[in-house]
Amino acid sequence: MMDKLLQEALEHIANASSTATLKEVEVSWLGKKGRLTNLLKELGSLAPDERKAKGQALNELKRQIIEAIANRELAVVQAELDAQAMGERLDPTLPGFTPKAGRLHPLTLVIDSVEDVFERMGFHILDYPEAETEFFNFDGLNIPADHPARDTQDTFYLTDGNLLRTHTSPGQVRAMRDLKPPFRAIFPGRVFRCEATDASHEHTFHQVEGLMIDRNVSVAHMLHSMMTLLTGVFGRQVQVRLRPGFFPFVEPGFELDLRCMVCDGAGCPVCKQSGWVELLPCGLVHPNVIRHGGLDPSEWEGWAFGLGLSRLVMMRYQIDDIRWLLSGDLRFVRQF
Ligand code: PHE
Repeated sequence: MMDKLLQEALEHIANASSTATLKEVEVSWLGKKGRLTNLLKELGSLAPDERKAKGQALNELKRQIIEAIANRELAVVQAELDAQAMGERLDPTLPGFTPKAGRLHPLTLVIDSVEDVFERMGFHILDYPEAETEFFNFDGLNIPADHPARDTQDTFYLTDGNLLRTHTSPGQVRAMRDLKPPFRAIFPGRVFRCEATDASHEHTFHQVEGLMIDRNVSVAHMLHSMMTLLTGVFGRQVQVRLRPGFFPFVEPGFELDLRCMVCDGAGCPVCKQSGWVELLPCGLVHPNVIRHGGLDPSEWEGWAFGLGLSRLVMMRYQIDDIRWLLSGDLRFVRQF
């Protein structure tokens, strides 16, 4: 009887030509309700002598079936892989896939080059909060409570009484409190103004503030640093002019204009036909600000500037609308 069963099982196994049918065969013999399993269950009802002999025989049969299935499986799997390989065609002459490289945003590129220039001149690079207190954004900078810059038109106030910084200048007072003078530092970052947007205005834009605190600081130091900055960023000689400018936190205050890099001063829409672009407000730090920074203005002096990074980016890459910068449009970023 055992021989007959083995014969039958081996036949089933040999006829299974795929892994799926082989599995079915396995289940039909060895599964929970398989034929061999059922025979093994019946052993319980036999007399002890008979049970022992038949049990041994059935277990031997089981071992042989398992072995036969394992051997058959090797062959079936190999055949399936071969069939798959034959069915697929590989054409090594087809062009490959070129991975798309990411690009740095033009703002990042310009911030990197600004940081590079100032690091070489021994400046710290600092990062200050975008949500500020009224003190650091205004009072500490000698901007009195009735100054028009405090008008809610320009400032985004937060519900907790703080605000989104309207410029990077709050870092001036913070840096004086954080660092031991003499020191030099720049702090680039985002600033926010509640303004209607157009080609040259955004509610969110970038500035980089520069501050040097030392003894006997003059406008000449300031100008030298700013010329080094501009020639470094543009990679060529630039022409500038200095006009008086008013900011409550500097005295004297200036506006530094750059000869338009788009039209070389001939007049174009970017410079509004004037040949000059307002780029760098700056000046010597007001004694009140030095005092708010915790320093003695009779000992320490400084210069500060607030560079419009967004505008610098537009100049360097000749971008005609500031709204591209934060548009999130990849077609824009991929050009740089
Ligand atoms: N914080 C000023 C602004 O955003 C610019 C500025 C910075 C002017 C430093 C003078 C000195 O308009």
